[in-house]
Amino acid sequence: MTTTLNDEVRAFWERQPCGTQKEFTGALERGSKAWFEQVEEHRYRVEPFIHGVAQFTRHTGKTMLEIGVGAGTDHLQWARAGCRCHGVDLTDAAIETTRRRLDLYGLRSDLRRLDAETLPFPAASFDLVYSWGVIHHSERPERIIAEIHRVLKPGGRFIGMMYNLWSVAVLKQWVRHGLLAGRPWRSLDDLVWHHIESIGTKAYSRPALHRLFAAFERVETRSLITPYDRYRFPGWLASQFPDPWGFFTAIDAVKRASAS
Ligand SMILES: C[S@@+](CC[C@H](N)C(=O)[O-])C[C@H]1O[C@@H](n2cnc3c(N)ncnc32)[C@H](O)[C@@H]1O
Repeated sequence: MTTTLNDEVRAFWERQPCGTQKEFTGALERGSKAWFEQVEEHRYRVEPFIHGVAQFTRHTGKTMLEIGVGAGTDHLQWARAGCRCHGVDLTDAAIETTRRRLDLYGLRSDLRRLDAETLPFPAASFDLVYSWGVIHHSERPERIIAEIHRVLKPGGRFIGMMYNLWSVAVLKQWVRHGLLAGRPWRSLDDLVWHHIESIGTKAYSRPALHRLFAAFERVETRSLITPYDRYRFPGWLASQFPDPWGFFTAIDAVKRASAS
């Protein structure tokens, strides 16, 4: 049987859901409430802007789908905010971790392991689709985006984050694996593909992201400086980096309310 890119992506993320590395959780028992709380504390300390982008509590009562739940930290916030939650991920590790996590708090979600390039939900099922740092890992991101558009109700909203090609974090990959490795001709796309997390990762300029989301009526993108951009720079310098140089691009897209 041939191995697809998404088989390799899945194998990478099955090793451990992101954000659950021992360096963040120390000696805490994996899967315990204290361990999950440490994972949550770490996530929102290093990526505090997630709350401003997602605005979890503004969506109370909505039917939402999260694509790529990972360790379930944001999924927990959607459930806490009183959304009717559905979540999918390519890995069993993510689905089992998220299920255990919600169980610990007495919260519920319809969680399924699947490849989001094909979603099993009828058209116009969701008020909101959320996906943080996921779509660019898949072999065919454009298929996931087409599926998001299909499963959103008319007027429904997508909130998410994808990687920014023209960012300090990506340029650092060029310095390390291009310039210092004696191969300065390597393209940024090639460096992101081979050196950022799972094999086949992609990053996009903001115009390229707008083209990917062209089926939506309104699309807003905003890049954000992250710790991954600032890492290895002295604080006085890193604090000057403007947000447009940031590795994360937040996306807020609305599906047309009617066919007219
Ligand atoms: C960087 S992690 C992000 C997880 C979570 N959203 C977060 O922010 O912590 C990427 C996740 O995307 C999932 N993923 C990658 N490709 C996918 C696909 N085609 N369908 C569903 N999930 C996918 C991986 O299994 C992994 O859990």
